[in-house]
Amino acid sequence: MKLVKKRLLKHLFYLVIRRIYITYYWKSPRTMPAVNHPHVVEIELTNNCNLNCVHCHRSKMDRKPGNMDLSVFTKLIDEIATYPIAFLRIVGQGESALHPLFPDLMRYASGKSIKIELTTNGTIFDLYSIEEILQWDIDILGISVDGLDKDSYHQIRRGGNYEKLVTNIQTFYSTRNKTNKKYPLVCLRNVIFPDNTTQQLKNFKESWQDSVDMILFNTLTTCQKPVDKQYLSRCRCNELFFEAHIRYDGSVLLCQNQFLYGTNEVIGNMKISSLRQIWKSNRLKEMRMLHYKRDFPQPCKMCFSNNKNLENYTNSRLYNSSKNKIINVLNKFINLT
Ligand SMILES: C[S@@+](CC[C@H](N)C(=O)[O-])C[C@H]1O[C@@H](n2cnc3c(N)ncnc32)[C@H](O)[C@@H]1O
Ligand code: SF4
Repeated sequence: MKLVKKRLLKHLFYLVIRRIYITYYWKSPRTMPAVNHPHVVEIELTNNCNLNCVHCHRSKMDRKPGNMDLSVFTKLIDEIATYPIAFLRIVGQGESALHPLFPDLMRYASGKSIKIELTTNGTIFDLYSIEEILQWDIDILGISVDGLDKDSYHQIRRGGNYEKLVTNIQTFYSTRNKTNKKYPLVCLRNVIFPDNTTQQLKNFKESWQDSVDMILFNTLTTCQKPVDKQYLSRCRCNELFFEAHIRYDGSVLLCQNQFLYGTNEVIGNMKISSLRQIWKSNRLKEMRMLHYKRDFPQPCKMCFSNNKNLENYTNSRLYNSSKNKIINVLNKFINLT
């Protein structure tokens, strides 16, 4: 428990440092030291999945199915465990719990100074016991529901079972509480669809608030290209400094939204380089400079991230403001014993 509490404090502190760094970088990049490694590392253990959700970009994926090699995973964990601060997000274009070595991977990552968030569609509860999950050192267990009620869930999450998922989440949460564990934090995730009303979202929050620690709404992303005038509101991207995205085959993407616009630019591979080496690559340096000059290349112009003119961006901000996220985390932190 103490380890998790220490990690949380460190991360809150580092978020402030990040903010200060980036504010100065965008003013005067040449006077700022280079960032040696990312803070957030998002990895895909597998691109296999047992569901076929209507909104998921997996259906447009042209990569062959596969699982991350144990050697790539352990190399990555060994490296990021040496960073002063690291946040590992296990997600990607598939269901991580289906990785054939999943428990081994979880055990390997446990007990290190790495904050871990795992996002699942709930399959983890079908494959592993609550006792086993509680033994892994996961800080945040994100469970995507993506349905406001049974009917909408079944329309969206093709192949899922709503009643089983609800029971599993409630049982996991109450068992964790009974064993006096505060972690993993149970974080319910739901994608806002354009036809969802404010009242529906409010009802959803109310119906779940006693069964989980946090409820977060995701932005619905589409491959739809913004129209010309929306390019004007593109902001500089801080992720180019702090976030790495790694696919199951070890390839490191230029950024997380490469897939959406068909660019899929890869800047390195963990099988032959370290993440630190990739973080110093000329391509990343060039991209940061282009963003400094606001000379955004084509994929960035199209990107929805931090584009304040796009409806889905403002929508998610409305229901899921950073302020709310911080309040959630602080509430949890204050309640820690
Ligand atoms: C691709 S899934 C992979 C993890 C796991 N299979 C799951 O469903 O949670 C990661 C997250 O992306 C969300 N997601 C899927 N399609 C999306 C879309 N078009 N826009 C926004 N979020 C999406 C899912 O709800 C989930 O929370
Ligand atoms: S469960 Fe997750 S990865 Fe699988 S299709 Fe649905 S959103 Fe995509």
